[in-house]
Amino acid sequence: MAAFRIAVIEGDGIGKEVVPEGVRVLERAAKVFGLDLHWDRLDWGCDHHARFGRMMPEGGLDRIAGHDAIYLGAIGSPSVSDVESLWTLLMPIRRGFQQYVNLRPVRLFDGVPSPLAAPGRIDMMIVRENNEGEYSEVGGRMFPGTEQEMVVQDAIFTRHGCDRVMRFAFDLARRRKRKLTSATKSNGIIHTMPYWDERFRAVAQSYPDVATEQYHIDILTAHFVRRPASFDVVVASNLFGDILSDLGPAVTGAIGIAPSGNLNPERRFPSMFEPVHGSAPDIAGRNIANPIGQIWSGAMMLDHLGATDAAASIVAGIELVLASGENLTPDMGGTASTTSLGMAIADAVAAHGQQKAAAHG
Ligand code: NAI
Ligand code: MG
Repeated sequence: MAAFRIAVIEGDGIGKEVVPEGVRVLERAAKVFGLDLHWDRLDWGCDHHARFGRMMPEGGLDRIAGHDAIYLGAIGSPSVSDVESLWTLLMPIRRGFQQYVNLRPVRLFDGVPSPLAAPGRIDMMIVRENNEGEYSEVGGRMFPGTEQEMVVQDAIFTRHGCDRVMRFAFDLARRRKRKLTSATKSNGIIHTMPYWDERFRAVAQSYPDVATEQYHIDILTAHFVRRPASFDVVVASNLFGDILSDLGPAVTGAIGIAPSGNLNPERRFPSMFEPVHGSAPDIAGRNIANPIGQIWSGAMMLDHLGATDAAASIVAGIELVLASGENLTPDMGGTASTTSLGMAIADAVAAHGQQKAAAHG
């Protein structure tokens, strides 16, 4: 029996509501497909900060470095500054474990209304650079509080960092439709973005079978709204990828559906799986958050761990429940609770998985 040790961080806000649904669905899939999932629950986040003055204990990373994966809800609370909560928990994990790819699938499911009149078949993968770029702590402030006050924030683009995320995107494109779009802004940001484009052309040399295109980020956001179905794999820097991966799910109807994997493709360190959305303090504690982004992130985790049949059954379970139009949470136009949607998906996963298992046996 394949066994996996998973570190679970529910985090804050709706993280505490959607993670239990993700675990519920993963456990059901594990039962059907004979996986042994061992969960180590960590109470890291803003409550931990309130009690101990830090988001995670000292040496926290060492405690989870040997796990097979990290399953995270969301981090952030009005009681702690977002800079503190992000830079002393999420960023150390993403960077310390060299999770340099943030992979964010975007799909329009049957049963979920898109805000677009004619969305077409939206099914794309956003590959966001996750370790450097615009999200850098290099910079500073001089003459604070005076007339001469000035701030500088540097963006960091390295050859190593660009090439490795681009290679990941090209490899992924090869397994899909052999088409890769790059997001740039080399007309306005005249040092880092022309360099990004240069590395994109250089890496593309090794992938003559993959068709490439590139757009400036401004017009690309317009194309995401006007013809989202025409994109397949999209590679982008940290900031542009962050923006595109909220916009993509928005055109597919609900940000609460979108999953992500923070991947260390070499598997030297554990990868981390979390929904794209945040802790949503505006709806937290009401059992109305959409758990699908969390559940789908669990499917990505199983896929990464090699349990591909179980992962596929979870995605199938999500498809079945959404297509039925029942048990939808309010953000998708329904009236169901977080718990009832999670339970419905768990049941669908079990039913689908048993069918698959029977067909195999
Ligand atoms: P958010 O994603 O938490 O919320 C944006 C809007 O979408 C809100 O109206 C919220 O109610 C809604 N929403 C989000 N997830 C939903 C779900 N599953 N079901 C139904 N509705 C959902 O983003 P926001 O408001 O910018 O940030 C809130 C906090 O979360 C901040 O502290 C921020 O720093 C943090 N955050 C954390 C992230 C992470 O842990 N990776 C990512 C993004 C934000
Ligand atoms: Mg974001």
